[in-house]
Amino acid sequence: MTMRNRIETQITPLRRAIILGSGLAMLLGLAVIAPLPSSAQQADPNAGGAAATDRKKPSAANSFNRLLKKPASAANAPPAEDGIHDPDNPGTHTLQWPSEAFNDLPKAVQGNRVDWVKALNEGLIAPWYDLEDPEAEVFTFDLVIVREVKGSMPDVVYPHEPHTQWLDCSNCHDEIFVPEKGANQISMAAILLGQKCGVCHGKVAFPVSDCRRCHSKPKTPEQLEALAAKSAWRNAGEKGDGNTN
Ligand code: HEC
Ligand code: HEC
Ligand code: HEC
Repeated sequence: MTMRNRIETQITPLRRAIILGSGLAMLLGLAVIAPLPSSAQQADPNAGGAAATDRKKPSAANSFNRLLKKPASAANAPPAEDGIHDPDNPGTHTLQWPSEAFNDLPKAVQGNRVDWVKALNEGLIAPWYDLEDPEAEVFTFDLVIVREVKGSMPDVVYPHEPHTQWLDCSNCHDEIFVPEKGANQISMAAILLGQKCGVCHGKVAFPVSDCRRCHSKPKTPEQLEALAAKSAWRNAGEKGDGNTN
């Protein structure tokens, strides 16, 4: 198998889950359902000893990290230990380990340590956009929305393009965001509670601790200097062209 094929085998199911609305709901559903066993345990005073230890521990894999703590489990644990795959399923043990599969992909400092936007743009991964049709073309949308932030944090640049490379419009519109500039109240508090941008960031997209990937439009010369302009939409955000304001 070529490197690319192996990566595709590993990543495509995840990607499909992200792309399909129902898949996304399922992923998010997991995060909501995951804490239940432990609270059920607390509610039942008899649930100690063997019964309690037999229960599978809730997975931290997709739960939202509200306090931005370093996760207890190492990034990219082997499939049988990642809290996502079922260790009792023999298929789990035949999967390639992410630590190996991700090796040659562009690095990020946060999350699962892969810059997925770059990996896609550099052609290192080639997801299917339709489960039934491997030839289906992705429909991307090049519209940048800049959200001004009070205080010293750089403004937030929301780029449609890298989102629509992975997601359908209906993953966000209208349930998470009304498609109208400025019509949505977004705050860091909401994001840290797993709402708005936090529906995905910190769960299936890069985590909220990576401040500068969202707060990427500098306000001061110092911020401008500190910014390593890495992508077209960031530059668009800086220039304030037709797509931006
Ligand atoms: C990851 C979430 C997400 C996805 C996917 C997404 N959008 Fe948006 N969209 C946003 C956000 C956030 C805004 C800004 C809303 C605001 O400023 O309050 C926005 C704004 C818009 C606007 C308003 C622009 C304006 O100037 O008023 C339109 C139109 C729009 N989106 C269309 C689309 C279309 C078409 C697609 C699919 C091709 C799409 N969006 C996919 C999040 C998304
Ligand atoms: C429905 C899921 C979803 C929502 C909601 C969402 N994002 Fe994303 N976002 C993604 C995915 C998936 C990616 C690409 C994978 C990655 O970078 O982890 C991405 C990538 C990005 C990038 C590109 C980073 C780069 O490398 O250039 C930025 C910036 C970003 N998101 C900001 C936002 C902001 C700001 C909001 C809220 C207004 C938001 N996102 C809401 C899923 C989402
Ligand atoms: C996924 C994208 C994203 C990431 C990552 C992110 N922010 Fe934000 N942040 C936003 C958005 C969107 C807003 C709301 C902007 C607006 O007013 O429309 C915001 C607003 C803010 C504000 C303004 C006040 C408030 O609470 O709303 C501050 C301060 C802030 N962020 C700090 C941070 C810091 C510090 C980090 C890193 C720990 C961070 N942000 C990471 C998207 C992000």
